[in-house]
Amino acid sequence: MTSTKGRHVEKCLFPVAGMGTRFLPATKDIPKEMVPLIDRPLIHYGVDEAVASGCRDVVLVTSRGKQSIEDYFDRSLDLERTLAERGKKELAELVKSIAGKARVLSVRQAEPLGLGHAVLCGEALCKYGPFGVILPDDVMITGEDTPPVLAQLVRVHETYGGNVVALEKVPRQQTSRYGIVDVEPTGDPGLFAVRDLVEKPEPEKAPSEYAIMGRYVLTPDIFKHLKNLEKGAGGEYQLTDAMKSALDDQPLWGYVYSGRRYDCGTRESWIRATVALALEQDDLRAIIEEELDLYAKGR
Ligand code: G1P
Repeated sequence: MTSTKGRHVEKCLFPVAGMGTRFLPATKDIPKEMVPLIDRPLIHYGVDEAVASGCRDVVLVTSRGKQSIEDYFDRSLDLERTLAERGKKELAELVKSIAGKARVLSVRQAEPLGLGHAVLCGEALCKYGPFGVILPDDVMITGEDTPPVLAQLVRVHETYGGNVVALEKVPRQQTSRYGIVDVEPTGDPGLFAVRDLVEKPEPEKAPSEYAIMGRYVLTPDIFKHLKNLEKGAGGEYQLTDAMKSALDDQPLWGYVYSGRRYDCGTRESWIRATVALALEQDDLRAIIEEELDLYAKGR
């Protein structure tokens, strides 16, 4: 095993090759990562989180039809010029700032063979140090005084080395939606040593109710394990299985993060996220209250 403890987490990988079938027809012709939450696409939240967690490079693992994600993080000189000419300086600056957030690199995943395969596609760009992984469907919101969720995992890696996953307790009947870990507590609050993990177990076979949420810090050793994978749950190459195999040569930490998670890949959770975020903004909260009032009065 190569120790990467103490090495800065400079890159964050975003698997964005998926088709977004849970959100059709909205995602028929736009990537699911470009579905907006209030006034910015889902991927914008993930990239902000990575940058605020200290990452400089964003590695997109994309597929056919996903160019608009790369374009979103590129300069749009015509738009900036037009906005400036119309006196909309603030908007012009906002649009320009999106391109300056991070260096965006991309690589293609030619076939939808699973999350483990997607991460392996990023090997050439991520193999030199520990790197973050953000699944952008899971939008993580933290309060002003709380570090972003990825930063919470980076702290664990910087302190203890090894691989790190974000954990949340879920109702037992939901274990078949997630990677589930078998854990033992450490002295550090919220931090567990993972002894075993299994992808999407049925409730009666789940080793606990702690589920892996869409944030990881991985060391480049993971690529060796990803290359040796056999197909797992759902007939796909699973990142969970590679992390299990990596337990042989390095620790895996599970951290029960502080923050709220919204799985924006479904209509129900997306609408919940939209309302929750809107309620935090005075002008938008007033609109929601007005609409609820009108609804209560039967219009
Ligand atoms: C993936 C992972 C799973 C994890 C989940 C979190 O599953 O394979 O271990 O719990 O993300 O959202 P997916 O939702 O892509 O099926």
